Amino acid sequence: MKTLITERQIRSKISELAQEIAKDNSSGHLHVLFVLKGAFVFCADLLRALSHYNLDVTVDYVIAKSYVGTRSSGEVKFSVDVDIKGKDVLLLEDIIDTGRTLKRLKEQLMKLQPKSLSTVCLLDKPSRRQVDIKLNYVGFEIEDRFVVGYGLDCDEKYRYLPFIAAIE
Ligand code: IMP
Ligand code: MG
Repeated sequence: MKTLITERQIRSKISELAQEIAKDNSSGHLHVLFVLKGAFVFCADLLRALSHYNLDVTVDYVIAKSYVGTRSSGEVKFSVDVDIKGKDVLLLEDIIDTGRTLKRLKEQLMKLQPKSLSTVCLLDKPSRRQVDIKLNYVGFEIEDRFVVGYGLDCDEKYRYLPFIAAIE
C-alpha cells in the first residue's frame, strides 16, 4: 500500500470545498445527502467545515453498492428513501469511477423533485468514466488506481485509515 493523499492534504482540500459550496449557496439552506457506506468519513469532515459558514445544514443518506473487491460488479443497488422535495440538495460521494452509480442515483433523486441537486465528490478517476456526468465540486482527480482509506474500502477493510492509499 502506498499513501497517495495525506491527512493534511485532505483537511486543506475540505476547507476549500466548504468555502466554495458556501459561496455558491444562495438560499442559506443545504440538505446534504451522503452515499453509504464509503462517503461517511468525508461527510463528517465536510459538515464540520461547513459549520464555519452561515448555512442551515441538514443531513440524510442513501445507500448504493456496486463494488465487489476491487472490481465494479456492474450492477448498482440503491436504497433511496428520502424527503428532498423543494430542497437544495448536495449529493456527497466518496469517489466517482465509471460514473454509473452517481448517474443512476441522480436520476432517481430528480424524480423526488428537489429544488436543486448538486454533487460533491472527494475523488474522481476521470480516465475511467463510462457515462457523461456533471460534477459540481471535486476534491482530487486521481489516476486509475484502486484506493482505500478515509471511508473507502476493499472488501470492507481499510475504511478507518485517516489518509488515502493506493493498493499496489
Ligand atoms: P462508479 O459507479 O463506477 O462510479 O463507482 C463508484 C463507487 O465505486 C464508489 O462510490 C465507490 O464505492 C466504489 N469505488 C470506485 N473506485 C473505488 C476505489 O478505488 N476504491 C474503493 N471504492 C471504489
Ligand atoms: Mg461509494
